[in-house]
Amino acid sequence: MGSTGAGMSAVEVGLLLLFALTAGCCFGANVTYDQRALVIDGRRRVLISGSIHYARSTPDMWPDLIQKSKDGGLDVIETYIFWNLHEAVRGQYDFEGRKDVVKFVKLVAEAGLFVHLRIGPYACAEWNYGGFPLWLHFIPGIEFRTDNEPFKAEMKRFTAKIVDLMKGKKLYASQGGPIILSQIENEYGNVQSDYGSGAEPYVKWAAAMAVSLDTGVPWVMCQQDDAPDPIINTCNGFYCDQFTPNSNKKPKMWTENWSGSFSSFGNAVPYRPAEDLALSVARFYQLGGTFHNYYMYHGGTNFGRSAGGPFITTSYDYDAPIDEYGLLRQPKWGHLKDLHEVIKLCEEAMVATDPQTTSLDSNLEATVYKTESGLCAAFLVNLDMQSDATVKFNGNSFNLPAWSVSILPNCKNVALNTATINSVATISKFVRQPSQEGTIASDAFISGWSWINEPVGISSDNAFTKLGLLEQINTTADRSDYLWYSVSVEINGNESKTVLHIDSLGHMLHVFINGELAGRGIRSNSGHEVSRDVPISLIPGENKIDLLSLTVGLQNYGAYFDTVGTGVTSPVQLKGLQNGSTFDLSSQQWTYQIGLKGEELGLSSGSSSLWVSQSDLPKNQPLIWYKTTFDAPTGSNPVALNFTGLGKGEAWINGQSIGRYWPTKMAPTSGCSDSCNYRRIYQPSNCVKNCGAPTQQLYHVPRGWLQQSGNVIVLFEEVGGDPTQLFFVTKEAQSMCSSISETHPIPVSMWNSDEETRKKAGPTLSLHCPFPNQIISEIKFASFGTPRGKCGSFSHGPCSSRRALSIVRKACVGLRNCSIGVSVNTFGDPCSGIAKSLAVEASCR
Ligand code: GAL
Repeated sequence: MGSTGAGMSAVEVGLLLLFALTAGCCFGANVTYDQRALVIDGRRRVLISGSIHYARSTPDMWPDLIQKSKDGGLDVIETYIFWNLHEAVRGQYDFEGRKDVVKFVKLVAEAGLFVHLRIGPYACAEWNYGGFPLWLHFIPGIEFRTDNEPFKAEMKRFTAKIVDLMKGKKLYASQGGPIILSQIENEYGNVQSDYGSGAEPYVKWAAAMAVSLDTGVPWVMCQQDDAPDPIINTCNGFYCDQFTPNSNKKPKMWTENWSGSFSSFGNAVPYRPAEDLALSVARFYQLGGTFHNYYMYHGGTNFGRSAGGPFITTSYDYDAPIDEYGLLRQPKWGHLKDLHEVIKLCEEAMVATDPQTTSLDSNLEATVYKTESGLCAAFLVNLDMQSDATVKFNGNSFNLPAWSVSILPNCKNVALNTATINSVATISKFVRQPSQEGTIASDAFISGWSWINEPVGISSDNAFTKLGLLEQINTTADRSDYLWYSVSVEINGNESKTVLHIDSLGHMLHVFINGELAGRGIRSNSGHEVSRDVPISLIPGENKIDLLSLTVGLQNYGAYFDTVGTGVTSPVQLKGLQNGSTFDLSSQQWTYQIGLKGEELGLSSGSSSLWVSQSDLPKNQPLIWYKTTFDAPTGSNPVALNFTGLGKGEAWINGQSIGRYWPTKMAPTSGCSDSCNYRRIYQPSNCVKNCGAPTQQLYHVPRGWLQQSGNVIVLFEEVGGDPTQLFFVTKEAQSMCSSISETHPIPVSMWNSDEETRKKAGPTLSLHCPFPNQIISEIKFASFGTPRGKCGSFSHGPCSSRRALSIVRKACVGLRNCSIGVSVNTFGDPCSGIAKSLAVEASCR
């Protein structure tokens, strides 16, 4: 079978493709840049990227997350590398399981997407200690992130280690792999001035070091105005349209567009409306940007003790287009997908020329990308935060809602307006499992709990004594959240009205007097120290004072964040003693224990002979380990644990930590509103939810960590709770809705059809069930006319076609997807001369 290149047999083509895939190939080998864009194999590209941090989900979730990113219109997946995850002990590397970044990068390649690898190795990212391993702090003479030899040596070693790892697997685009871009450092420019004269040489060194590693692809530094050539300085923020790179030879790139925000225990949970996020993206591409990244596209979960802090929640959902559990967040995901399709329709014009912007009036502008060869794409913008406007452009009139951008890929027709959502919205709910009486909530399950008391005070052979008070992180090296400070005092008489004064840098402290809890203190989120006067009573003779000081995620941001201390500080005093004196304990002989006895015994695995399982299960008492077994909730929907009844601690499923839990930490009662006005400059405090409720009540239990039955759950309950109240939930879609008006643009998917077909189609309402294998089972509501309300609470307006419900039912029930033309042709005209819309709420089964 003679075959030349042009005439290969199907088998040969197949083999070539297979080789290309397994070699992680199929990508442009040559990545460079010019003033407009990244240039891949000689072609300028408009690229849309999204952050997914591999360690914030499980490997079994990765393919689906990547596929959903691809379906959402992404070209690139961005991830940080977390140094402390891979080299927790100096010189001992770990790239297994959730740490298998090579596998993650290969999966992205297999999906046909590119990778932006942000090596850092400082990450920030609300990740414990910003991603630095704690041992780094103990290297003699080290100073982080400045012109310091010990630091630079370690930074270079680890950066080179990652580059070599990727090179060894041929994962750089220059080798045929998917990695088209890498980042060195992270937002150093934001804190640089605090580092004085060491800063500039450090930036230059970091740039030169990165370039010397010869990856064959460009490097970026974000928020680094003085990034030395050839490093591209990029922008991070909620808006980056006004950003310009530091040289006219570099493209305008946005490495972090915050799709929402992170949350902290004790705060309300922020979210960012899809309309505003879409506006920010459209504005960036309007004004010459060609690379944009959502931070986050999937936020995921801070498993184990990986959350930064202090007080970053275990959930890192971020209000991202894919939610913590890996489900599409609709309409956000769908609206952005539509936006990406429209931006891609403009790509050719955008990369061929520079944008030309003209003002149409105050707050109104038009930007055109137009070439002599006849390409034309336009962006029409209304930045007024209240008033809609009508603008004249290219001989036509266009209605522009307030705070929105309309995109016209041919300079004639609007393909999308950022404030006009065509995508379906879904309302999901967490359903208690099992829904009937039976397992987890049943007596059988409850009586299955066993427990172990964590001793108060010193119990380990590894305890040691020191004069005076030690700083916590320097003492524990973050091997545990917990450090016991223990001291004995001899008292002559009865001291029933004494006060123990404690100063602590936080993050939290429990005070025990003679084995009994006497008080606690929590540092406020705004960073104030814990200072407490705890009323105590002491007995004649020896009294034990045990202070359990703990961290809730180490600092990850700010100049010198690595040196911020925690733990008990001077003075610790007994005040108001009977003789009127104050007794200072600060410089006494203290005994220290790093971590809990239960940690030393490895109780989190569940396999210890010490578990007690009598019927008098202790409840609402501090410092108790609990354990039970359970069957996995049936089905394939994502699983979470509802921590109702528990206080604070950490939980493990089959030996894997699902993170710190703290359902008793409440968000403030005020500051939330039902709906958030997107027509303004977004700040996380503008749009928050969960007021008056726990910041985080539900904790993700990855399906990949569960087996059908015999799963073990272990909790360490620190403040006191009732584990029998714990229950599982699964996340399920409740309803989907859509509301489309006669004036909406036609669906983007119709854009390439001829004028006639497009006109005929008009705006279309599409429904599709969120989960595979689901069909539309019921149309709960349908109204064509002037319907009111929003998804979940639609109602008929004064004008409403009687036939709407039956028409929509006929078109949709029993199908996975359906589309209905939103026009009088479909429904007849219930009120001529009035602008009408179609609103539908449906459910899937
Ligand atoms: C940026 C930082 C990210 C992340 C983000 C907030 O400043 O680069 O790593 O911390 O803020 O979520």
